[in-house]
This record gives sequence, C-alpha cells and structure tokens, in this order.
Amino acid sequence: MKPKLKTILFITSFIPVIVFKVVARVGDATLAQAKVATVVGLMLAGIQFILSKRFVKHTTYLEKTFLGFLGFGTAWVYLTPVHVSSLFVDHSTALLYFALFLTTFIPQLFGYDPFTYAIAKQTTPEKVWNTPHFRTINLHLTYFWSVIFFVNFLSSWLGHGKPLFSILIPLIIILGIGLPVVKIYPKYYLKRQFTSQSIDPSLIPDTAKELILRMPMGFRPEAADDLKAEIQFDLSGEGGGKMVLSISEGKCSFREGDSSSPSLTIRSPADVWMKIARQEINRAQALMDGLYEVEGDMNFLMKMGDLFRPPTKAKEEDLTQKGEKKMKILAIQGSPRPKASNTEILLQEFLKGAQSQGAETDTVYLKEKEFHPCLGCYTCWAKTPGICVFKDDMPEILEKVKGCDILVYATPLYNYNMTSLLKAFQERLLPLLDPHLIKMGEIYRHPQRYKMNRKMVLISTCGFPEVSHFDALRHVFRHIERSGQTPLVGELLMPGGELLKQHGMKENVQGVLQTAYRAGIEVIREGRVLEETEMEIQKPLVPPDALAEMANLWWDSHLEGITQGKPVQGKIEDMRLLLRGMAASFNSQAAGDLKATIQFEVTGNQTGDWFLSIENGKCAYHEGKANSPNLTIKTASEVWLAIANQEMDGQQAFMEGKYTATGDISLLMRMRSLFGAKKS
Ligand SMILES: Cc1cc2nc3c(=O)[nH]c(=O)nc-3n(C[C@H](O)[C@H](O)[C@H](O)COP(=O)(O)O)c2cc1C
Repeated sequence: MKPKLKTILFITSFIPVIVFKVVARVGDATLAQAKVATVVGLMLAGIQFILSKRFVKHTTYLEKTFLGFLGFGTAWVYLTPVHVSSLFVDHSTALLYFALFLTTFIPQLFGYDPFTYAIAKQTTPEKVWNTPHFRTINLHLTYFWSVIFFVNFLSSWLGHGKPLFSILIPLIIILGIGLPVVKIYPKYYLKRQFTSQSIDPSLIPDTAKELILRMPMGFRPEAADDLKAEIQFDLSGEGGGKMVLSISEGKCSFREGDSSSPSLTIRSPADVWMKIARQEINRAQALMDGLYEVEGDMNFLMKMGDLFRPPTKAKEEDLTQKGEKKMKILAIQGSPRPKASNTEILLQEFLKGAQSQGAETDTVYLKEKEFHPCLGCYTCWAKTPGICVFKDDMPEILEKVKGCDILVYATPLYNYNMTSLLKAFQERLLPLLDPHLIKMGEIYRHPQRYKMNRKMVLISTCGFPEVSHFDALRHVFRHIERSGQTPLVGELLMPGGELLKQHGMKENVQGVLQTAYRAGIEVIREGRVLEETEMEIQKPLVPPDALAEMANLWWDSHLEGITQGKPVQGKIEDMRLLLRGMAASFNSQAAGDLKATIQFEVTGNQTGDWFLSIENGKCAYHEGKANSPNLTIKTASEVWLAIANQEMDGQQAFMEGKYTATGDISLLMRMRSLFGAKKS
C-alpha cells in the first residue's frame, strides 16, 4: 500500500468517532441523541471499514477499534434498559479509551502484530520489520500506550465525563507524554543496545574501504562459532567500493569485489558508514532511518557488533595498572629508497597496528641521516667510553635507541643480508657495548654498557619468491639476539616484495598488510609476534613461477623502453605485465567451475595478441591467439591500460566504443570479480 493512502486512511479512521462525539454533543447528550450518534458513527465506521478493505485491502487497528466500539455502543443504547444504556451515554469517552486500551493490550498476547506496528512500518524501511529489535521496540511502545489509555479511561470514568477529565487531561497525557516518548524511545533503545565500547575516533581509518579492510583484525572467532558467511559491502562515494568480508572456520578475510552468494549485503554511502564507525550515528538507528540499505539476513547485521571488536587502544592507565608503561618503538629503516620502499609498506602497517595498542612509534630513515661508517678506532670504548669520535647524526639516534622498548630493524634483503646502510648503522652501535669479554651461558660476549630491556623485531622484503633467501639474514639476527641480550620477538619476512606495489596485486597485498598490522598489535598485546602471523607473511602472494614470469616481463618491458625510468607506484605500463598480473590475481572463488578463454587483440603502442585461459579454478596467461575464445576484446593498449590504472571507466569506455568485445559478453561483466580489484 502506498504511504499516502495509509496516511489518508489513518486520518479518516477518526472521522466516525469525531462525528459520533459531535452528534452526541460530546459528553452532554440525551439518550435519544446518543442513539442517533451511535448509529451515524457506526455507519461511517462501517463505510470506512468496507472502503479500506475493498480498495486498499487493508484495515487498521484503529478502524477495527472504532467500528467495534460504535457497534457495541449501538447495541448497548438500543438493546439495554434505560438505566443501563444511560451508562454508555454518560461514559462514552471513558469507554472509548477502554476500547483503545484493549486494542493495545490484547492482540500481541495472541501472536498478532502489536498496535504500533502499522504506524512504525510507515516510518521504517521494510527490511527492518522482521528484526527482533523492531518487534521489541513496538511491543514496549504498545504496552506504553496501554498504560496511557488505561489512565485516560480511569480519568474520564472517575471524572464523570467532565471535559477536564475526559478531554483535557487525556489530551495532555497523549500529546505531552505519549507522542514524545514514541519519538524518543526507539532511538534510546537502539543506542542502549548497540553502543558498546566507546571508540577513539583517532583509531578510525580515513576511508570506509580501509575501515572494512581492518575489520578482520577485530574479528572474534569465539562469537562466530562455526559461522560460514559472506558480507558484501557496496559503499558508494569517495573512499568506498565493493568489498567482501568472508567468514569461515573461525577466520575472517577481506577481498575487494563481489560475493556470489552473500549472506548479507550492505549498501551505504561511504560517509554514512564512516559516521557509524565513529559512533556519530547509531548503526541500527541509521538503518531504521533509511540512511543505508541491507539485504539478506538482518539478524546477522545485528550480530555484527559481537562478531567484530572495534579498534581499541590500550589505555595508558590500563598499562600502568598492569605495571607496564607506554611502549616506545623505534624503527630503523635501512632501505636506500626510504619512503618509496617495499619494506616501508610493511613497516608502517606494523607500526600502525602497534599504535592502535597505545604504542609510541618513531621511524629513522637511515638514507636521510648523515652518519659515517665505524672507523674501528675504539675511541668509544677506551678514550671516551660510550662516545664516538664522529659528531654526525648518530649520537641523537643512539639516545633514541637507549630509550626505546622495541627496536625494529627494517631492511630490504641485499645480497642475502641487510643493506649496507643498516649494517653501517649496526656497527655504529659499538658505544652501547662494554669492551670486556664476559662469558654468558655458553659463549663470551660484550655486555651492554647501559641498563636496558630492549626487544627486537626484524622486518624485511626480498625480490625472490622463496623465503629461504632470508636464511643468512635470520642467522645474523639470531646471533645479534644471543650476543646482545636483545630478544628477537618478531620476524616479518616477505618474499616477492616487489608485488607490494603491483597494482594488479592489490587484493592479495591487502591480506599481507592486514597481517603486518596484526603483528603490530600482537607485539604489544602478547609481547611478541605470533608464529602463525610470521608464517602468514612468508606465504608467497603468487606461485614462484608466476612471480618469476611477471618479474621477467617487467624487466623485458623496461629493457624495451615500455616501462620508462622509475616505476610509478601502482601503475601498470605494459600490456603483457597487466595480463600476466590478471592471471596471477585470478579469483578462483568467484570463478567457480568456469571454463573460458578470453582473447585480447591489442593495437596501439603495444600491439600483440594474448589470451587468458580459465579452467579448474586457475587462470593461465598465453601469448598468441586462442583457438576458439569465448570472449574477444579488441582494444588499444592505451585504453586497456588506462582502465586497469583506473584512469578510465571500463563500462563507459565500452559504451563509447573505445574497445569492443565479441562473444560471451557476460564474461566481460564478470571480469571485475574474476580478476580481483582491477577495474575492467
Ligand atoms: C643491491 C641489491 C641486492 C639485492 N639482493 C637480493 C637478494 O640477495 N635476494 C633477494 O631476494 N632480493 C634481492 N634484492 C631485491 C630486494 O631485496 C627487493 O627488491 C626488496 O623488496 C626491495 O626492498 P625496498 O623497496 O624496501 O628497498 C636486491 C636488490 C638490490 C638493489
């Protein structure tokens, strides 16, 4: 039924009782007048009832109540002796309140909708009608109206129908208490139900996408039991996108794109979702207000608060209570390409995780510092104990090292080891050691000159796909651990580190970033990075063969001059690399049992024929022409690269004929989900 018609119906349902009261001169009628009034009222109520049933196929509780009341009243005044029927005449208003009391009190006891449902449904989206909270709020409000109508009944009855008691007081109660409570209560209820811990807004990421990306980190497996579900987010506007949270076997993972069978789909403007996250608006209330839409299992939406812990910061007072202080983390970043480095991406994510737990962090970029290699003069041991001959940036950094609780060494793998920058830095730590050789355990070592309780974390990326390339580096750090009395409490070692910046790898990379962030949380909460987190980082993003092929394609394209100069972060410039990357970032889950071949016939700057074959949940990249492709895309390389780099909208480009597609067009439509986060 249309909302307008509902409103008309609601208003007209009052007409019969109003007419009845007017004809019966409100409360001052004779029996003869009351007889006329009840009949007129009954006829009007009957007409309203029939018209509603006939034309809008719906009648409201109010219509039924008024019809029942007037029918009952008519029978009363016509069929009972005068002294009984005058009771109705004297107390018709009180009896009307009593009828309303019964209507608000009885139906829900027999499983019918409570009285306020009809009105509530007009102001809330249909999706929320079958949520337990909608029902509870309406039950509370309906019983609240029962109390109001009963009080009005008593006021009117005991006040002998005098206007003060039958009209004024009840009206004040209805307008002054009833209506405001109806307005305020749902908000109050939902706020109480859904505002758990308060959230520090500084812990909320800047974009909705990052917010969803981080949700798996707050996932509570204990609340999920054996839940298997996918939540599809479709967040419009800046910072949004299509994203999926997949929950299964007590784990939750994030991916961009579409879910083939989501248990719950949330469609929201990205800024609304951000406001919800910052607790500026209540999640359930926003839904009731229609600020976002939900499809699927509504109860699942309500359970989300249990499933995902909000981001928390360990409060300083909590730490002091536990006898701990705010952790200070100093990161020594040893890449020669400091802020544009792969290692930096991992490091900063790790630090963000630690910050979320209240840690204070500082990063020293060695490349940007002025410091000399150690001369081996031992002045810092003999002549000026603890003080180096060089007056460069090092003394300041040493002070930071002395004051930190966790020292993070972040270095790319260079020749199986740390970079020379980091190596030079470590040599300059000599002033922190005492020259004497003291046997500690099995071996002799130099004791620390200053009292310290430092721990160490190693973060590194390397180019090759196998984790075994880190063996020597790990070995070195084990030695540092033993001889420096500095426990190594985490190793984040990522092979194939160049993939961190590959645009086509976005989706897989996000998984790595989540894990690095989690490692940062763990090092503060647990005192070390858990072994499973370390293992997770080491997992190759793509199979070694695929990585080697992609790397070789990249070098070829560089040598052929396609990829010019320094690579632009996240930008793909070579068609072959793009298509190979698509094959590597293939989403087997979205593909199901799809068997297809997609041919690319490319013109423009990078002419060539390539195809992707999909079978058994895998996608392979080939050069040349396929025998009978299911879909053929004819495009200029500039167009397809622009689409891949999100500089051009794929769908719009297709409409505008910038590229053509022949064959199974549904495959073209599926490409976005089949190939991870890329636009196609
Ligand atoms: C001089 C040099 C030596 C390298 N040695 C190795 C190596 O032994 N093993 C390896 O897997 N990668 C090696 N790489 C690749 C880097 O470790 C890899 O690209 C890393 O992700 C770069 O990290 P960054 O961006 O943080 O500097 C080397 C790179 C350079 C420039």
